[in-house]
Amino acid sequence: MKQTRPTHLRDLLIIKINSLFYIETQIIKALPKLVKKASNRDLKKDFEYRLKENKGQVKRLEQVFKLLDEKPKKVKVEAIRGLIKDAEWLIKNIKNPPALDAALIAISQYIEHYEIAGYGTAAEWAHLLGETEAAELLTQTLEEEEGADEKLNDLAITTINERALNE
Ligand SMILES: [Fe+2]
Repeated sequence: MKQTRPTHLRDLLIIKINSLFYIETQIIKALPKLVKKASNRDLKKDFEYRLKENKGQVKRLEQVFKLLDEKPKKVKVEAIRGLIKDAEWLIKNIKNPPALDAALIAISQYIEHYEIAGYGTAAEWAHLLGETEAAELLTQTLEEEEGADEKLNDLAITTINERALNE
């Protein structure tokens, strides 16, 4: 997106929302591979649940675009492409299922933290700009991402890391 006039916080918010939209759609494309490759049942179920949750998050972003009177623009975000490539590398190269589960949690937590940073910023900017409804929607997703990260952490600590250790 080329800016021909000074960039304001509202422009930054729109750029951020477009990035988040792209990030979510890439995650939705990648998650079925994680569902397929996770061997622990709870982890597999969690990835399945995240897939549904992320689809809801895309819908929420569509509402945010409407509230801001904007339409999604085509953007590419290299950072999420890199993270997804890392996940694909793990799937291809780690042959030991318990170790792969531990590695998939680790890469998923990278992705969650990345999303948490994005939604946290977007919610704050929307709030500052007086876009209260948009800020609320972004905060709802932020809380979901934080919950997803916590769930992954629990799975790692209670079972999955131990299994990888004893394999
Ligand atoms: Fe998400």
